[in-house]
Amino acid sequence: MFDFTGKTALITGAGSGIGRATAAYFHECGANVVLADINAAAVQEAAGALDGRASHCRYDAGDPQSAEAAVAHAVDRFGGIDHLVLAAGIYEQQLLEGMTDAQWHRMIAVNLDGAFYITRASVPHMRDGGAIVAIASVAGHQGGSFGHTHYGASKGGILAFTRGVARDLAPRIRANAIAPGWIDTPMVAKTLESSGAAKVKAIPLQRVGQPREIASIAAFLCSDASSFVTGESIIAAGGAYMG
Ligand SMILES: NC(=O)c1ccc[n+]([C@@H]2O[C@H](COP(=O)([O-])OP(=O)(O)OC[C@H]3O[C@@H](n4cnc5c(N)ncnc54)[C@H](O)[C@@H]3O)[C@@H](O)[C@H]2O)c1
Repeated sequence: MFDFTGKTALITGAGSGIGRATAAYFHECGANVVLADINAAAVQEAAGALDGRASHCRYDAGDPQSAEAAVAHAVDRFGGIDHLVLAAGIYEQQLLEGMTDAQWHRMIAVNLDGAFYITRASVPHMRDGGAIVAIASVAGHQGGSFGHTHYGASKGGILAFTRGVARDLAPRIRANAIAPGWIDTPMVAKTLESSGAAKVKAIPLQRVGQPREIASIAAFLCSDASSFVTGESIIAAGGAYMG
């Protein structure tokens, strides 16, 4: 584990899955954590499971004003931000030929615009030596599975966005991405229920990942152990995709 005593982490999508596990992990490492999510009840419950170093707020990734408000909440509560982890996201299936403009734009608004809004809002309040970690996906490398062109495009955008952010903010702040494969969270529960066994067969490590296994990579990327790493993406897919 890492020592994040005195640091503050703002984590989006912290009401569930990878974001929630990341908030818990950073909290265990001693950080103050701000859990932001569109699901206010979930984030309240998740923060309540931690102690007074945890705060929460309702936050809609696709709304720039909501991003500003989440950052203001973190700054009011803890005085600044050291680590920003972007885990809010949606995953909807729709074949390209039937995809409406609204479906396309909603995916991009939450998964890609959302990363821009909260990063732009956070940077002026991030302390020197801070780090940003964006949760992308192997879909960003390989284009997304069947019926997920919009999702794949949003995640490919995250990979490129992260590199651009890394360049713009260096040397003051580092920015990296994680590209998970199948991780056992509510987002993919139905898919894993119906075709999990087939998916596991294609994973060299012979299992899906756990949210905490992504949280620990996010912690590594925010820690001094990765102090010379920026603009990089770590694929965590049990070997299912070797980029
Ligand atoms: N689970 C996987 O297999 C997998 C694989 C690759 C990448 N990812 C990515 O990891 C991230 C976390 O996903 P997860 O698997 O933990 O899913 P999850 O559904 O468990 O958690 C996603 C969280 O994002 C929140 N959210 C959704 N829309 C939002 C919005 N508009 N504003 C703020 N919050 C919003 C949800 O309320 C939820 O709490 C996502 O970006 C996802 O694309 C997941």
